[in-house]
Amino acid sequence: MRAADRALRHAHPLLTYLPDAGVVPLTASTALVGHDWWGDRRYRIYATSTVKFNGHGLIKELTGLTPSRLQEHLLRLGDEAAIYLRETLPLAFDRHSHVILLTHVPPFRESWRYQDQGSNDEWLPFFGCPAVGDVLCELMQARPHGHLTVCCGHTHYSGTAQILPNLEVITGRAENGTPQVNAVIEVEGASIQAGPIQI
Ligand SMILES: [Fe+2]
Repeated sequence: MRAADRALRHAHPLLTYLPDAGVVPLTASTALVGHDWWGDRRYRIYATSTVKFNGHGLIKELTGLTPSRLQEHLLRLGDEAAIYLRETLPLAFDRHSHVILLTHVPPFRESWRYQDQGSNDEWLPFFGCPAVGDVLCELMQARPHGHLTVCCGHTHYSGTAQILPNLEVITGRAENGTPQVNAVIEVEGASIQAGPIQI
């Protein structure tokens, strides 16, 4: 998938693959960072969850694996994302007070919704990434004057979660194969049209 993304970017110069772009300045005080991590199944309930998540079957590299190999692979993806953000977000905050982080999977239990009623723990291992959530909390607790806005998707329901006074997560509604605009992000009077993208 990542190779396909990169090939598409080369074919269309106006497209940007955010993990390769690092810190993208938007204004003097606001920057954009992005990463495409997956739910990493660190939640303890994974061992007892009865959910059969079919999302992995849509991705060639994640099909045909035993449950333990799949979990191993997803844990590695979660670690990779956490390492990337631990390195990249401080660089963004060196020059900007506000960072917008575009992601795939909601990073926190509080930031994914189930039928507009909050999270359902049975599904939590497939809709959260504690490795990333822990890094985001640690970085923002150390930067009380910075502000991080996380925009993610992957779930069928939308919502906003205030994790820390300076850390909020906006979860957009997503449907496989149906990209849609969830919101328009306004930055210091400038307007950035979000979409159409599939997250
Ligand atoms: Fe997804």
